[in-house]
Amino acid sequence: MKKTFFISTAIDYPSRKPHLGHCLERLQADVIARYKREQGFDVHFSIGTDEHGQKIQGYAEKASKKPQDFVDEISGYFKELWKVLNISNDDFIRTTEKRHQKVVEEVVQKIYDKGNIYEGKYKGLYCIDCETYYLEKDLENGNCPVHKKPAEIVEEDAYFFKLSKYQKQIIKQIKENENYIIPASRKNEILNRLKEPLRDLSITRKTVSWGIPFPADKDLTLFVWVDALLNYFTTINYPGAKFKKFWPADVHVVGKDITWHHIVVWNGLLLSLGLPLPKTILVHGYITVDGQKMSKSLGNVVDPVELIEKYGVDPVRYFLLREISPFEDGDFTIEKFEARYNSDLASGLGNLLARILTLASNNNQCLGVGHPNIENKGLKKAIGLAQKGYKQALYSFKFNEALGTIWQLISFCDKYIEQERPWEEKQGSKQVIADLLATLAEIADLLKPFLPETSEKILTQLKSGKSKPLFPRL
Ligand code: MSP
Repeated sequence: MKKTFFISTAIDYPSRKPHLGHCLERLQADVIARYKREQGFDVHFSIGTDEHGQKIQGYAEKASKKPQDFVDEISGYFKELWKVLNISNDDFIRTTEKRHQKVVEEVVQKIYDKGNIYEGKYKGLYCIDCETYYLEKDLENGNCPVHKKPAEIVEEDAYFFKLSKYQKQIIKQIKENENYIIPASRKNEILNRLKEPLRDLSITRKTVSWGIPFPADKDLTLFVWVDALLNYFTTINYPGAKFKKFWPADVHVVGKDITWHHIVVWNGLLLSLGLPLPKTILVHGYITVDGQKMSKSLGNVVDPVELIEKYGVDPVRYFLLREISPFEDGDFTIEKFEARYNSDLASGLGNLLARILTLASNNNQCLGVGHPNIENKGLKKAIGLAQKGYKQALYSFKFNEALGTIWQLISFCDKYIEQERPWEEKQGSKQVIADLLATLAEIADLLKPFLPETSEKILTQLKSGKSKPLFPRL
């Protein structure tokens, strides 16, 4: 039987059209999913939209639309973007779907029946944009640290989930599972916050009507985060055979603003259900503009669809995976983007392919069937090194380093051509060209999870011998 691999990203709020900041997470997960499929795993890769809650309700009101009509429209933009970005997801889950509501009701009832939910009164601070409760000390001058807006005071009767009951176990799980949180810096952040007593989580809202009714009191709606986290169950058909096959998740890819929800809240819910933890929570930073998070709420967004229309999909994939650190914040500017495009894609990869194809066509050569053997020892060694570095980098989710090893191989080929001067048609020139064609086929293979379209194009050109610029210079 094939080994299984379940990877997910966070599900996005369809409050406004998606922006470039949303793309990083989907791309990181896409590379892992594609890589695992190549390695023969049975992969389930899920993404989707988080459609309930006060934030969405408010946006729909502002647009004078029914919430369902509102999310139908905006969720469509997300779905469309992932198609254009060439994301290879196996499921797109929307939390307003019936299949999801059913799972949520069943799971919440289960937690309730186990005696882990009780009635009380909630009074505290809330940021609608993150749909998150805050303590006074967590705010910056009364403002939410992510959205820089005042938090509102919420005071209402509510049901609470006994999160505090699991504090010790949560700390133990984090400490004992080496790869549970990547990178390790995020782990310390969470452990520091867990030094203070955990408070139980208010899981119902009285004043928010746009949500899944709370099973024990249908006048209330369920707190949107509990609803949202359970999407990871719905997508694998909880509690059926597919769930048994794919749970626990191998990787949840999330941004640093929602690490707490995925580690503490999610862990607490899973512990209360007696289910195993996801194996890895992979946390990325933000795409920033002048050091500020790119965000709809902050109004500094770049439209990824426009970018893709102008430059093509793979340059956008390349930039986000190469230039932006996988774990830290990274700034987007069009200047940096164009510089990478010209140096790495047009001059680096594109130029190498064109050069080799010209040499080959002057000699009536093209790539043979499959991957022919490479004779030159230096080239062979360089390929071996690149493959090894690539594998190690991907094992630790360092997408930028994996791409770095491919580009080292590209420069090695450039130097090899200069050194061998095959255009002089000396003895052995034919073999030099054959070796270079085969090396480019290896490069195309390594590029596959990152730049699937480009990888295809390279292989087609190598086989046909017909050259067409991959990335026209800007
Ligand atoms: N709906 C919740 C997630 C629920 S998951 C059970 C949410 N939605 S979101 O639309 O605000 O964000 C979705 C994901 O996109 C998050 O992981 C978030 O970190 C990521 N990004 C949103 N803006 C981003 C950047 N500017 N840069 C990188 N990723 C960021 O949170």
